[in-house]
Amino acid sequence: MSEGTERVRVGREAELPEGSQTEVTVGGQSVVVVRYEGEFYALRNNCTHKDFPLLGGEVSDGRITCTKHGAKFELATGKAKALPAVKPVRIYRTVREAGEVFVEAL
Ligand code: FES
Repeated sequence: MSEGTERVRVGREAELPEGSQTEVTVGGQSVVVVRYEGEFYALRNNCTHKDFPLLGGEVSDGRITCTKHGAKFELATGKAKALPAVKPVRIYRTVREAGEVFVEAL
């Protein structure tokens, strides 16, 4: 971890089951951490359309659906994959270490 990197603990891997969504705060921003097909993905919890939360949105096909108007964002890249959103959502790095999961922001 380089200097200036902020690291936030999400929880124990064993307590974050497949399909779970966990909200953490990184750099003062709400971030949603999704476990999907065994991997952890972290995205800013604000849709780039009208800022509604992504937390609680349906996850399928590697994408999370905004809870408000149905925009979809790719978990791995943050890219918008369905209107009405066109801009990508910020993503964060996830780290697994000694059975714990963390989110890092530069
Ligand atoms: S706020 Fe997310 S699609 Fe409109």
